[in-house]
Amino acid sequence: MKPIASKPQAGTGIVEAAGAQPAAGESFAADVMAGLSARRKQLPPKYFYDAAGSRLFEEICRTDEYYVTRSETTLLRNVAAEIARDIPDGAALVEFGSGESAKTRLLLDAAPQLSSYVPIDISADALCGASGGLTRDYPRLIVAPMVADFTGHFRLPACAEGRPRMGFFPGSTIGNFDGDHAVRFLRSARQVLGIHAALLVGVDLIKDPARLIAAYDDSLGVTARFNKNLLLRINRELGGDFDPEAFDHLALWNAAQSRMEMHLVSRKDQIVNAAGGTFAFRKGERLHTENSHKFSVAMFARLAAEAGWSAIKIWISDAPQVAMFRLEPVLGGSAVPPSEIP
Ligand code: TRP
Repeated sequence: MKPIASKPQAGTGIVEAAGAQPAAGESFAADVMAGLSARRKQLPPKYFYDAAGSRLFEEICRTDEYYVTRSETTLLRNVAAEIARDIPDGAALVEFGSGESAKTRLLLDAAPQLSSYVPIDISADALCGASGGLTRDYPRLIVAPMVADFTGHFRLPACAEGRPRMGFFPGSTIGNFDGDHAVRFLRSARQVLGIHAALLVGVDLIKDPARLIAAYDDSLGVTARFNKNLLLRINRELGGDFDPEAFDHLALWNAAQSRMEMHLVSRKDQIVNAAGGTFAFRKGERLHTENSHKFSVAMFARLAAEAGWSAIKIWISDAPQVAMFRLEPVLGGSAVPPSEIP
């Protein structure tokens, strides 16, 4: 891992990872330029989560159709005590993409032996909102929030140093990585967390496509607004002139890739200016904004093994089913060959 400097953000107590990446605004513009210039237009999903997008996402989690949050929360409530038994005294809890840290409280309540909590999120607003409440409600816990793109390289704050670490990656966010990026993320999480680590990962399981599609196209249209907020964000931050009404939200199940896909579909032939470029959309042309991969237990165990983790325990919720995996690093290169996992 490339060590990078960390600098505190004025007044917030939040540490911002710095040094390795270009300034946030520059990479957003470059990614929009590249994504809209591609033959198949696409944008990286991490840009969903500005302040408005983070709020809309919390609203998605409360819709009737989006079951992932509810199933996972109930599952965690049921197994938190069991998870806590394996957390060593003084361990640090490190959460990748913490949002409002609602599920984390179930772990914090069950595992008072945790010494510190490092929530990492790309949205400073989400972090600020969550951290104040946690500091108040868990006075003995050191809360050290970090603003960072957790897919990049970063160094953990001092309070997590020299301690056993428990990684926490709920919400089926692992499903949002494409191709070998999930494996790369799991490898880099292994480096960040070190040898005396475990990683709890929440994974959505393959199920009836109708159920899946409804979860990404709720009847109140919250997910559609969330998807279109990406266009509004481009307008706000990159001088774009997108008309969000000129695009339809589309959620579809791609069985071959075992994933839900979200797109924005142009309702007409149109020209849009953004990020210093001019882009033509044909009627019906799609802008691909998100993938959410769905797994079987065996598929995910295989993926984890490829990244040097072995699945020690697996809990599965009631239907609609999601899974929680407890992974531990495979030591000394004795990884089970992926082909031998059923
Ligand atoms: N990790 C979540 C998932 O894949 C993210 C998510 C839920 C999402 N609903 C969404 C992302 C709608 C974009 C649009 O389930």
